[in-house]
Amino acid sequence: MNTLPAYDGHRPAVSTAQLLKRGERLLEPDVYRTELGGRPAVVKDYRRYRGTPLSPVARLLVRREARVLRRLKGWKHAPALLGTVGGLALGMEFVPGETLSRVQGASHEVFDQLQLALSRLHAAGITHNDLHGTNVVVSAGVPVLLDFTSAWRSPRWLRNGPISRQLRRSDMKNLVKMRQRLTGQRPSAEQAALLAEPGWVQALRGTWKRLYRHLKGQA
Ligand SMILES: Nc1ncnc2c1ncn2[C@@H]1O[C@H](COP(=O)(O)OP(=O)(O)O)[C@@H](O)[C@H]1O
Ligand SMILES: [Mg+2]
Repeated sequence: MNTLPAYDGHRPAVSTAQLLKRGERLLEPDVYRTELGGRPAVVKDYRRYRGTPLSPVARLLVRREARVLRRLKGWKHAPALLGTVGGLALGMEFVPGETLSRVQGASHEVFDQLQLALSRLHAAGITHNDLHGTNVVVSAGVPVLLDFTSAWRSPRWLRNGPISRQLRRSDMKNLVKMRQRLTGQRPSAEQAALLAEPGWVQALRGTWKRLYRHLKGQA
């Protein structure tokens, strides 16, 4: 991969028709549809950070996402990586379809597949860590996971540690929530028990909430 839309020093010159998401918040990429090597592609473009102090962080995000996609090569539940350009842009296969947040009436079948896909991902030692409706595209009935920016691959010896377990639980929790919202299916008693947070997580979350409220009160 070696061609990207021209860049005017501030933003890539892409039409609104091609733009999938404008990076508004800190370290969010511009995401747009284009063609690379004659294939429909999606580019996540962080070039606006070139020459800024945040450039190394943006490069790291590109590298991390590329690494996970490379690992998942050939898996039907993730887009194929096409490559990276200049370290600040990542190109992948365009997955046609609707995101789960826009799809009308997602089926149980799609969620069953998604649940299985997530279990496979976890078994490979990877957690997604940002599982919500806009990060899943349903393409010809197959759910495809997108946006591996926050994904994390634990080394083998850490996979049964409390942090990895918590990340997996959190992914599953997001999935169960999506499922309930879109299909009305409530988690089974077994699932609910599996997803219940251990005491230390609840304590940590509670402390963080109190601290956050306190800080907000001061602002
Ligand atoms: N490979 C892809 N195929 C189709 N649409 C995509 C693809 N990658 C991203 N998108 C669309 O672009 C949006 C933003 O991409 P995403 O990777 O989630 O970026 P961000 O990290 O800014 O959330 C997604 O919600 C989805 O609608
Ligand atoms: Mg996203």
